[in-house]
Amino acid sequence: MDRLQPSGIRRVFTRAGELEQAGRKIVHFEIGRPDFDTPAPIKAAAVKALEEGQVHYTLSRGIIELRKAIASDAASRLGLAVDPEREVMVTAGSSNAILISLLTVLQPGDELLVPEPMYLFYLDWGELMGARTRAVPLRPENGFQLSAEDLRAGLTDRTKVILINSPHNPTGAGLSPASLEAVAQVARERDLLVISDEVYDRIVYPPHVHLSPASLPGMRERTIVVNSFSKPFAMDGWRVGWLIAPEGLVDDLENTQHRCVMNVTSFAQYGALEALRLGEEVVAPMVEEYRARRDLILDLLQEAPEIKSFPPQGAFYVWLDVSSFARDDLELAEMILEEAGVAITPGRVFGPSGLGRLRLSYAVSREEIELGLKRIFKVLRSLK
Ligand SMILES: Cc1ncc(COP(=O)(O)O)c(C=O)c1O
Repeated sequence: MDRLQPSGIRRVFTRAGELEQAGRKIVHFEIGRPDFDTPAPIKAAAVKALEEGQVHYTLSRGIIELRKAIASDAASRLGLAVDPEREVMVTAGSSNAILISLLTVLQPGDELLVPEPMYLFYLDWGELMGARTRAVPLRPENGFQLSAEDLRAGLTDRTKVILINSPHNPTGAGLSPASLEAVAQVARERDLLVISDEVYDRIVYPPHVHLSPASLPGMRERTIVVNSFSKPFAMDGWRVGWLIAPEGLVDDLENTQHRCVMNVTSFAQYGALEALRLGEEVVAPMVEEYRARRDLILDLLQEAPEIKSFPPQGAFYVWLDVSSFARDDLELAEMILEEAGVAITPGRVFGPSGLGRLRLSYAVSREEIELGLKRIFKVLRSLK
C-alpha cells in the first residue's frame, strides 16, 4: 500500500475545492469526465427497470439483452463477430474490466507492458497484484505511435500482457494501423495477451479512424477489448462497461467477477441497454461539441507558440509541452492554480515522460476554455 500514491489529479481537485470555498472562481481543466448530463431516455429506461422490479442479482456476466446489444455494436463499429452468450461480460466500467482481467491472468512477478505516458491507474493495478509494469516510451516526434522494436525492448521472460489505450489518455493520440500491427506482431510472436482499453473509441476526430487490435489476423483469440458507457454517453457515475474476450477466458473472468462485485447494478444495465439502442443519436452531438472545443483550443494556442501541443485525434485531452518555461510541471500546475485559478493536471502523474507537460481536459464549456487559457497564458508570460 505504501507504493500506491493518492491520485495526483485528486490533489489538484481538492486544492481547487479549497480555493472555491474561499470564494475564488476556478476553471476546471483537470477532471477527466464528461460535463454533460446523461441523456434523458437512458435515465428513464433505468428508472423504468427499477420500478418494474429489476432489483436482484443478475448473471455475473450481465443481462443477455445488454450482451446482445454489445455484440451487435462490436459487429457494426469494429467489424467483430462476437457471441453474446460466450464472449461478452458486462463490467462496472472499464476499470473493473481491466482489474479483473489482470487479476485473472497475472501471477505475482509477471510483467505487463504499457505505453507511457499512461492512464495513471494502469501502474497501480499491476502493483496491487504483485505484478510489474514496464513502460514502453511514446514519443511526440512520431505522434505517440508504437513500434515493434520499442515493444520488444520491454519484453522479459515474465511478460504476459500488453495493455494499450487508444484514443489515448493523456495525449489524445490515436494508434495508427501500423502501431496496432506492431502490437499484434509482438503479441503473436511471444504468445502474449493484449488488453485494449477503448473507452474513447466513439470520441474521435476525422480523419482519425478507430481500429481495434482484435480485428487483426490472429488477434481475436488473444485480445480482451475493454469499453465503457462512462465517456461517450456521459454515464461515468453509473459504473457500466464491458469486455469482449475469447470464449474460455470469459468463463474465468466471470469467476473472478463473481468474487468481486457479483454483477453490475441491475437497473443500470437496462439504462446502458437504452444507451446502445440510441447510439449515435445521443453520442454525436456531444462528440461534435468536443470537436468544436478541441478546435477552439488549438486556435487559441497559436497565440502562445512557446507552448507546444499535439492536436488530439480522440478523447478530450490536450497534452501541452511547457518545458520551455524551465519550471517543473508540478510547480507550474501549482502556480497556475494559485495565481490564475485554473486547475490543470501536472504531466508527471502519467509517468516520467510527463515531466514538463500538462494535461488539459476540455470537458468544460467553450467559455471556460477561453477564460482558462487566457489566465494560463498570463501566468506563463510573467515567467518569461
Ligand atoms: C484510459 C482510461 N481507461 C479507463 C478509465 C476508467 O473509466 P471507467 O469509468 O470506464 O471505469 C478512464 C477514465 O478516465 C480512462 O481515461
